[in-house]
Amino acid sequence: MRNFDENSITQAVLARVSQASDARQREISQALVRHLHAFVKEVEPTMPEWEAAIGFLTRTGHMCDDKRQEFILLSDTLGVSMLVDAINHRDAAGATDTTVLGPFYVQGPSEFPLGSNISDGMKGEPLFVSGSVASADGAPLAGAAVDVWHSDEDGYYDVQQIEELGGLAMRARLIADAQGRFHFWTIKPAAYPIPHDGPVGDMLKVQGRHPYRPAHVHFMIHANGHDTLVTHVFVAGDKYLDSDVVFGVKDSLIREFVLNQPGEAPDGRAMTRPYSSLHYDFRLKPSAG
Ligand code: BEZ
Ligand code: FE
Repeated sequence: MRNFDENSITQAVLARVSQASDARQREISQALVRHLHAFVKEVEPTMPEWEAAIGFLTRTGHMCDDKRQEFILLSDTLGVSMLVDAINHRDAAGATDTTVLGPFYVQGPSEFPLGSNISDGMKGEPLFVSGSVASADGAPLAGAAVDVWHSDEDGYYDVQQIEELGGLAMRARLIADAQGRFHFWTIKPAAYPIPHDGPVGDMLKVQGRHPYRPAHVHFMIHANGHDTLVTHVFVAGDKYLDSDVVFGVKDSLIREFVLNQPGEAPDGRAMTRPYSSLHYDFRLKPSAG
């Protein structure tokens, strides 16, 4: 087979990839060819446009290393990460809604005792966080591992300023008590722009979009016999809730970060300055099988 033209080439490529012996690989390859060819036929790129597209993907790859994952950022900003997340969590069945993991999770966070201040002395408005972890039916999950991480009051994560800070901060693992409860102190996070000094930032500019995420605290919760929950809690009233650059906001994940006057905090601590407090009760889905 030869002499392909714009009318015959799609079928020819589809026939070639249909030789894949693995059924799932075959299905994925065929769908990729169908949709990619349909996209090109709709857009009809000029040769310089095609070269620009290859250049964009090449720069995206070159931007990736063990600290920066520009391809995930591309997936996030095109809504693909949230689409994959939605497809994989169709049957939440009473569990807390999920949202994107993002690039700032650090594997194996240090464990802090309940009630600790995890901010490592960072400046900012004190924030008291309390919550609970239960199974979808409401049964408390004692010993659940609650990983938390968030930005500082200027919207930067510790890993983005690791040289200045000299170590990690504003991240921890807490172990829920016998009733599945946990609490800790930290500082209130701010809204922030995702890293936009690379090709994804260039794309956002061309598309007339801002790079901001509304302020939030990330949670990843593990409990025996349950699916790991990856989510955030967003600050009610944030101006970016309706235009999150990665499409990650869900109403069920928005909470008031209540501003409290100085006085006795819920854990008995005497506060000499105003502080915020946040409470969230998480529900985890029992694992299948
Ligand atoms: C984050 O919330 O940390 C995040 C999520 C997606 C892209 C960039 C940052
Ligand atoms: Fe974040």
